[in-house]
Amino acid sequence: MKNLLFFLAVALLWRRHEAVVQSGGVLLGSSAILPCHINTNDRLSQITWQRTIKGKAPDDVFLTIQPMIGPSHSNGKDFRFEFIGNFNNKNGTLKFSDVTLNDEGSYTCIFSLFPSGKQSRNSQLVILVPPITNLMDYTPLEGNEEVPLATCTAAASKPKADVRWIKGSLEGKVREELKETQHANGTTTTWSTLLGKPGREMNGQLVKCVISSEATKEDILETNILVHYSPGEVKVTERSADSFECETEANPNATFTWTRAGQSLPESIKVEGGVLQFASKTSDLSGLYQCEAGNMFGNTTSYVFVRFSSESSVFCWVLFGLFVLSGAVGLLYLCWSGKFSDCSKRLPWWKEGPSGPGETNPLH
Ligand SMILES: *[C@@H]1O[C@H](CO)[C@@H](O)[C@H](O)[C@H]1NC(C)=O
Ligand SMILES: *[C@@H]1O[C@H](CO)[C@@H](O)[C@H](O)[C@H]1NC(C)=O
Ligand SMILES: *[C@@H]1O[C@H](CO)[C@@H](O)[C@H](O)[C@H]1NC(C)=O
Ligand SMILES: *[C@@H]1O[C@H](CO)[C@@H](O)[C@H](O)[C@H]1NC(C)=O
Repeated sequence: MKNLLFFLAVALLWRRHEAVVQSGGVLLGSSAILPCHINTNDRLSQITWQRTIKGKAPDDVFLTIQPMIGPSHSNGKDFRFEFIGNFNNKNGTLKFSDVTLNDEGSYTCIFSLFPSGKQSRNSQLVILVPPITNLMDYTPLEGNEEVPLATCTAAASKPKADVRWIKGSLEGKVREELKETQHANGTTTTWSTLLGKPGREMNGQLVKCVISSEATKEDILETNILVHYSPGEVKVTERSADSFECETEANPNATFTWTRAGQSLPESIKVEGGVLQFASKTSDLSGLYQCEAGNMFGNTTSYVFVRFSSESSVFCWVLFGLFVLSGAVGLLYLCWSGKFSDCSKRLPWWKEGPSGPGETNPLH
């Protein structure tokens, strides 16, 4: 029993000696310091470095440091290890440059001491790999089925990255779906997809993908959700007395086709985008005009009735005026010649005759 307690105490002390020096994570491709130092008055004859990593036999001795001789590589020369300590100070610290995923593992330096024997220090080398990030959107067609709207990817990260969304105005209308794959080299790829029923109101809405990983600071990618949809309601507005504009919402943008119902457009009418521009306002241009707004997903049509009564109506009023005048002259002649008895009744009517011609606004 006494013996067992003594053994346990020795074992605990030994473990204390072997205290793991956690060097934290080291970024892929950067340099790591592998610390190694001991405080003792014992005589030091050699420092031996060994490692246990994937793909190599355990406790693989890769460097020995001796007084006078200095450091010497063994089991293949790897010049990424640089001795930066000081043998006389019992400091066997190494600088390890350009670390790769294959270097991850346990690194131990062993002091050969007299008279106490061997003592060791251990470091765990953990490699951090920042994710390769990407945000992709799909531009679905408006519909009632749930489809992917955008996918955020954090590829080949170690440890695995955290991917989440800031959905903005789409909060509650879309959901996230997370997928992960672990690669043989120890990295993980994480995908998060935003799914929802693509509605035209979603088009252009901003969403953000937040990627956090131990290897880098937070990365925020953003995109505007894109939804394709055919033209909605087509509105025709009067821009001025002789110009009309056709407007609609569509993605991609609609193109507009103006026609005169049943006929091709008269040459004097100019069309620019959705705008119909009359060069003259003659009554022969009056009639029903049609604006068709269309994109590759459909088209919508609206009509406008244009009525011009300008120059032509002046001409009519003039004709009518002449007609009334000639009638009055005839009446006067009849009065004057005494062939009409109630002239006094008719003359006031002539005085109250139609006033000047007016321009009526086109109706639609
Ligand atoms: C051992 O050497 C390294 C590299 O020169 C140095 O940074 C470290 O402080 C030394 N350790 C001690 C305890 O002197
Ligand atoms: C790890 O493996 C993945 C998948 O094969 C690869 O895309 C990635 O580049 C690798 N990472 C490193 C650091 O080798
Ligand atoms: C589509 O129309 C809008 C509004 O008229 C305009 O701001 C935008 O630039 C157009 N897009 C393209 C690709 O033409
Ligand atoms: C407009 O839509 C109708 C019905 O979807 C189709 O028959 C017609 O060909 C379309 N017109 C154009 C110019 O795309």
